[in-house]
Amino acid sequence: FCVVIYLDLLYCVNASVLDNVLDSKVCFKNGFLFGVATASYQIEGAWNVSGKGESIWDRYTHEHPERVFDHQNADTADASYYKVKEDVRVMKEMGISLYRFSVSWPRILPNGMSNEINEDGLRYYHELLDELKLNGITPVVTMYHWDLPQSLQDLGGWTNPIMADYFVDYARVLLENFGEKVKIWLTFNEPLSFCHDGYGGDDAPGGRSSGFEDYLCGHTVLRAHALVYRLFDNEFRRKNGGVMGITLCFSWMEAATTSAEDQAAAETARQFNLGWFAHPIFSESGDYPPIMRKLVDANSKRQGFPRSRLPYFTPQEVKMLKGSYDFLGLNHYTTYLIKQGSRKLKATPSFLDDMNVKVFQRDDWPKTNSTWLKVVPWGFRKSLNWVRLNYNNPKTLITENGVAFEAGLRDIRRINYIDSYLRSLHDAMFKDGCFVVGYIYWSLLDNFEWMRGFSERFGLYEVDYKSPNLTRTPRLSAKYFTNVAKTGCLPN
Ligand code: NOJ
Repeated sequence: FCVVIYLDLLYCVNASVLDNVLDSKVCFKNGFLFGVATASYQIEGAWNVSGKGESIWDRYTHEHPERVFDHQNADTADASYYKVKEDVRVMKEMGISLYRFSVSWPRILPNGMSNEINEDGLRYYHELLDELKLNGITPVVTMYHWDLPQSLQDLGGWTNPIMADYFVDYARVLLENFGEKVKIWLTFNEPLSFCHDGYGGDDAPGGRSSGFEDYLCGHTVLRAHALVYRLFDNEFRRKNGGVMGITLCFSWMEAATTSAEDQAAAETARQFNLGWFAHPIFSESGDYPPIMRKLVDANSKRQGFPRSRLPYFTPQEVKMLKGSYDFLGLNHYTTYLIKQGSRKLKATPSFLDDMNVKVFQRDDWPKTNSTWLKVVPWGFRKSLNWVRLNYNNPKTLITENGVAFEAGLRDIRRINYIDSYLRSLHDAMFKDGCFVVGYIYWSLLDNFEWMRGFSERFGLYEVDYKSPNLTRTPRLSAKYFTNVAKTGCLPN
């Protein structure tokens, strides 16, 4: 028997090891947590009602509809803003214990700054939190899942160092208002994605891909994360308890051959993809991975710049960053093969150019509806072991794992995906000793998949976008997941 206290589950995990020796079923029992995830812009809708300010995704989808699949936007999305009871009922039926959602910054602070607080925004999240409590579901709250207030983007967004201070102000509002009801916090969701897509490429709203901006974004976000973690640790934890982490994405990077060059290239890819944001927080150095520092510094020099495009942290920032976590939130979906690269350095390189590796997937790996996502369950175990070995086995919560297939309720392929990834996770935990305390599926519902609009459906529940009330219907995978969440075991 074990009690769930804010992810403090080492004891429970050990107990499960014993249980598994005793019965050969694949089980995660004794307090392992199952949940589902969503994010504000992708499901809420109600983009301009009740005092909500404009976000960068509102502006982007309205100004450049041609860039998004079928000119879609999330003005209405799943209308979850109006469906608190309905959505929580569905979770309750599934028997899950965690619901990960994000707060829309411009819904709380319409102009991004804390001088004007939107009471209706607070009311909405209180309503959601109260309903979750009533149904025995623990909230996991992401402070930033990509919908920056447009007014702050107008100041340069994450490339402007001042953003770290605005993020602290925003976080303070959240901690003051929701601290009693929220015990598991995440500062950021996947900084690699929004810094690269928004500031190093043109797959999201953000900057200008100048060769500097993805690193400037990353630098500000890391400082912002550490400042908010310290604020939480110094001021709020005493009063409300709870834990805080950050969600990072990590696709496994497997060397395509056994050659020393390709092995080294794969390690470089891991360091640029996870290490960029993990190394400063989870390693002893409090700084970027050495290989990243070396390559970007050298390339900057070759370009004739007097300073590296990858900024340096001050000694005080290093101190503040190091250990600024209670747990790691990990998003994992797929695996890539890596070969040594042969890129010529262009005038405005992105981190992909500095990293300089060839990235591809095998044609015979099972496909899904996302071009970037093939089904490679063994990569999950390898990713978790890399985290274990590089960062001293941190307490880890899987904050996303999931897959998109075509519409339809008989989603056997989704069941197979989840089942195979859970088996890989189980091996990582019980054969290798990785310290994982819970698994959150992405996503509860079909939703707005950014540039791919509603064309990629990740939901355990199907949303009928043609029906006036956006009917939610459980897929077979929802039934499968219900069984897993309720028993803690995978079916034989
Ligand atoms: C990453 C993101 O956090 C989420 O917003 C997105 O929908 C899923 N993964 C699937 O791509």
